[in-house]
Amino acid sequence: MIRKCLFPVAGYGTRFLPATKSMPKEMLPIVNKPLVQYGVEEAVKAGLDNVTFVTGRGKRAIADHFDISYELEHQIAGTSKEKYLDEIRYLIDNVNFSFTRQNNMLGLGHAILTGEPLIGDEAFGVVLADDLCFGEDDGVMAQMVKLYNQFRCTIVAIEEVPEDEVHKYGVIQGESMMEGLYRVTDMVEKPSKEEAPSNLAIIGRYILTPDIFDKIRNTPPGRNGEVQITDAILQQAKEGCVLAYKFKGKRFDCGSVDGFVEATNFCYQNIYKDPTAE
Ligand code: UTP
Repeated sequence: MIRKCLFPVAGYGTRFLPATKSMPKEMLPIVNKPLVQYGVEEAVKAGLDNVTFVTGRGKRAIADHFDISYELEHQIAGTSKEKYLDEIRYLIDNVNFSFTRQNNMLGLGHAILTGEPLIGDEAFGVVLADDLCFGEDDGVMAQMVKLYNQFRCTIVAIEEVPEDEVHKYGVIQGESMMEGLYRVTDMVEKPSKEEAPSNLAIIGRYILTPDIFDKIRNTPPGRNGEVQITDAILQQAKEGCVLAYKFKGKRFDCGSVDGFVEATNFCYQNIYKDPTAE
């Protein structure tokens, strides 16, 4: 059974400067809740109640968010405002949080490898909190856990993107296994329109088997000197099986300003104003 979920949150969030100069990108609120809390809620709904953050300098607000604030609790205890803390209290009471730090931001692959001592020798989920997902049933990660229980291999979530956006993503080539599920045969990180093997882009949800750590260790730095997780997953695909899953739901790229504004509008209309709609 998968119980652990890794959140790499060490990146600089340069696309959101100056907002992210002293505040972690993952703490940017979508309406009244920080991005990272949506991600943790999705993981918990999927049964992943061991949450590990790979943090970096300037990210202490994330650890504080998932801890009790005694002064605040004392101030609002017994008042009508107490209800605003219900959701975060639930997470604090029911999730086991752990933290480690990535000292040099050498890419997503490197961030995941930094989490190895806290993950150990078991399959685990990965959530990139700046991809905000709302999925059918219990969410995108829960859909992926169901598939993992059936196939027992690494799974990446994918989405069809317009041709002129493939350069922002890892893009897969795959053989269709069934509706919405592909066996990966090739992957290219941030290809040009011409190089892209398809328009099926990997988004920020993964389930990784623990052999990924050795694969990352053996992956030389790729584009921009960063260790890309795509290269390590491609090794797994070549030696065994990697699945790409077209998830059922909606995703917002909250690492970009356009996606962030769309997510805010969506959440305001569908969740904040109408909490029954989620
Ligand atoms: P991004 O490239 O989207 O995030 O990395 P970023 O670097 O923070 O943002 P920009 O591009 O400068 O605006 C995807 C995810 O991987 C994490 C980021 O925190 C983000 O969640 N990451 C990236 C790390 O944890 N460490 C790294 O070295 C790189």
